[in-house]
Amino acid sequence: MAIAGEHLPSIAVIGTQWGDEGKGKITDYIAEGADLVVRYQGGTNAGHTIKIGNDVFGLHLLPSGILRSNTINVIGNGCVVDPEELLKEMKQIEDRGYPMKGLRISDRANIITKYHKMLDGAEERQRGAKGVGTTGRGIGPCYSDKIARSGIRMCDILDEQVLNEKMDLIYPVKEKVLEVLNGPKLEAKEQLTKGLLENGKRLEPYVVDASVLVNDALKHNKKVLFEGAQGTMLDIDHGTYPYVTSSNCITGGICTGVGIGPKKINEVLGVTKAYTTRVGAGPFPTELHDDLGKYLLTKGGEWGTTTGRARRCGWLDLVVVKYACRLNGLTGLAVTKLDVLNSLKTLKVAIAYEIDGKRFDEFPASLHKLERAKPIYDELPGWEDWAEGESKAVAKKGYQSLPKNMRDYLDYIAKVTEVEVKIVSIGKEREETIDLRHHA
Ligand code: IMP
Repeated sequence: MAIAGEHLPSIAVIGTQWGDEGKGKITDYIAEGADLVVRYQGGTNAGHTIKIGNDVFGLHLLPSGILRSNTINVIGNGCVVDPEELLKEMKQIEDRGYPMKGLRISDRANIITKYHKMLDGAEERQRGAKGVGTTGRGIGPCYSDKIARSGIRMCDILDEQVLNEKMDLIYPVKEKVLEVLNGPKLEAKEQLTKGLLENGKRLEPYVVDASVLVNDALKHNKKVLFEGAQGTMLDIDHGTYPYVTSSNCITGGICTGVGIGPKKINEVLGVTKAYTTRVGAGPFPTELHDDLGKYLLTKGGEWGTTTGRARRCGWLDLVVVKYACRLNGLTGLAVTKLDVLNSLKTLKVAIAYEIDGKRFDEFPASLHKLERAKPIYDELPGWEDWAEGESKAVAKKGYQSLPKNMRDYLDYIAKVTEVEVKIVSIGKEREETIDLRHHA
């Protein structure tokens, strides 16, 4: 199966909301035709759920193609790698019968160490009520070190001398900062270094120059899928700062996070959940605080794959999705979890905000403004549910078999965003997907 049309070798899959849009499922679905699946940002904060038959896999750092036997799975330099957690995840997946022979890790990826995780917790406590609600995986502190030029990279934990020199510089500072923040006590420098070197040895067989690997693959017309983690609204530059993650989740992050030129990305598929969710703190204009919010939480199974936290739920916000279309240069949308909206009488969709009596069609930068944003809604009629367990049969019959009002809802999204809907998802499994890419 061609992934991006016969002559287009690469496609990016990006979240258009606050993460948890169903990127894992869509990536896994498209990965069927991919030679390479490449992660370009984020770390073990991500949680990609993939369901194959009765088996459910929650992936955090491993790219979603890891469950396909002929796919090369790359962790790019823009990711942050926690060696301990990665090794655990590799073992869990290996134990379930999926070998790691296709795994590759960039020699330039920054490493998450114990002190990053301790600092993540200590900094959150320090922020108190203004906490970001991070996943506690050390993401922010690790990316901070990278930008401040105090990071440890994959290639460094393969070289004892380099690591010792770096630790001599970095360790005393981290120890002091943790003390000031009343954080936990850090283990001795020698022990920390030894642990990193040991894990480095175990990961060494997978370490490569990932930019060379990916560019070579593209040169030879291999099919490459770039897999986004988190979502556009969690992007460090364009998201709801500071309630964001610490990397560039948008398409632009692929160039720096893998080491490829912008013209190498042929298609950009934006994954959009049919409603909106967010986990952690920060503004969320269409959030529902009533029973309907609770209904979406339960019916949609909206609990975090990584932290188990309940997600906040609300109506579809097309101000957000339009913003994501622009930032990512989307060439198509994959709309997921439409089945969760089955049997609701009326659906609301935000198309603009009202802030202090003024209409805003674009997503504002100021959080102060955003906190006062009242969504301006359009209302659309809902559709009937289909019988329990019928999703696969409905998907098999194709797009025209979907309820008319569901198709109208999708047409409405396409019209407002000016981006075509290319994939429709009505359940967790691969077979509960309708692919419209070849009907264009
Ligand atoms: P961090 O990435 O752990 O630093 O967390 C920063 C913010 O991003 C918090 O609000 C997290 O809940 C959110 N976040 C991080 N990763 C994900 C994800 O995979 N899905 C949804 N939210 C995420």
